[in-house]
Amino acid sequence: MADIKMIFIAGLALVLSGVAESAFMGKSHSGGKDDPVLQYVVNNSLREHPVLTKLKLRTLEDPWSIMLVAVEQAQFMANLIKLINATKALEIGMYTGYNALSMALAMPEDGRVVACEIQETYINIGKPFFKEAGVEHKIDVRYEIALKTLDELITNGEAGTFDFVFIDADKFNYDNYYEKSLQLIRRGGIIAIDNVLWSGKVVNPAPDDITSQTLDALNKKLHKDERIDLSMIIIGDGLTIAIKR
Ligand SMILES: C[S@@+](CC[C@H](N)C(=O)[O-])C[C@H]1O[C@@H](n2cnc3c(N)ncnc32)[C@H](O)[C@@H]1O
Ligand SMILES: *[C@@H]1O[C@H](CO)[C@@H](O)[C@H](O)[C@H]1NC(C)=O
Ligand SMILES: *[C@@H]1O[C@H](CO)[C@@H](O)[C@H](O)[C@H]1NC(C)=O
Repeated sequence: MADIKMIFIAGLALVLSGVAESAFMGKSHSGGKDDPVLQYVVNNSLREHPVLTKLKLRTLEDPWSIMLVAVEQAQFMANLIKLINATKALEIGMYTGYNALSMALAMPEDGRVVACEIQETYINIGKPFFKEAGVEHKIDVRYEIALKTLDELITNGEAGTFDFVFIDADKFNYDNYYEKSLQLIRRGGIIAIDNVLWSGKVVNPAPDDITSQTLDALNKKLHKDERIDLSMIIIGDGLTIAIKR
């Protein structure tokens, strides 16, 4: 697994080089902590499963907890899952599993979440909480490079079978993740793409800011992509909802 570790470290450095320099990120647990309107939203709408609360607190002890999904965004996606009766979801970039657990809890007994992650430490943090919440059997963690998992799913005949995909891993592969997710998702299924606003830096990307440029290019591509309907939501660090036509 040495090669996976190296790729992970390179990927993490790229992810965090963008995150670290941003002063604001609208997540209620990190950059948006002092935003009273966001706190109001959370105070008056968050319904967090007790095991999700425990996993969040454990994750906040991790030095890279800035990667944790905004909890209000996870709840929004869980509600989308309920709305479309999703029973099969994919997460590209699981980290410690807050959103994977949230999706599993939103699904019926026969629901299944395939979760991609290349850092074993993070998987080991999440798994005991999946068990404690009683949904361990719903979460299929794939410890390998996500693109490999997506190709395996396609080869395995699972194209067109997923109801929901959450893209939240290394930004330079976002376009690949999007294209493969479009193959894996059914018509009417949802591809949710995280960090599309990149702390607002996509508005006017600096000449040397390749991450912002990459995300901006993908945003512009999706805007005119006839294969989907879409909305770009100002929640967390920006979330695009793409619905396959
Ligand atoms: C922003 S975090 C995901 C947060 C998570 N969705 C949550 O609910 O809190 C991104 C994760 O993607 C993982 N990752 C980065 N590149 C990857 C790759 N090529 N394949 C699989 N996982 C990857 C990182 O290790 C990291 O844990
Ligand atoms: C949100 O709840 C916290 C904890 O109860 C409280 O300290 C804070 O004033 C509340 N903020 C808003 C805007 O409701
Ligand atoms: C979801 O399932 C419920 C209950 O079985 C059903 O009434 C509803 O029409 C379904 N919604 C969709 C979007 O399929």
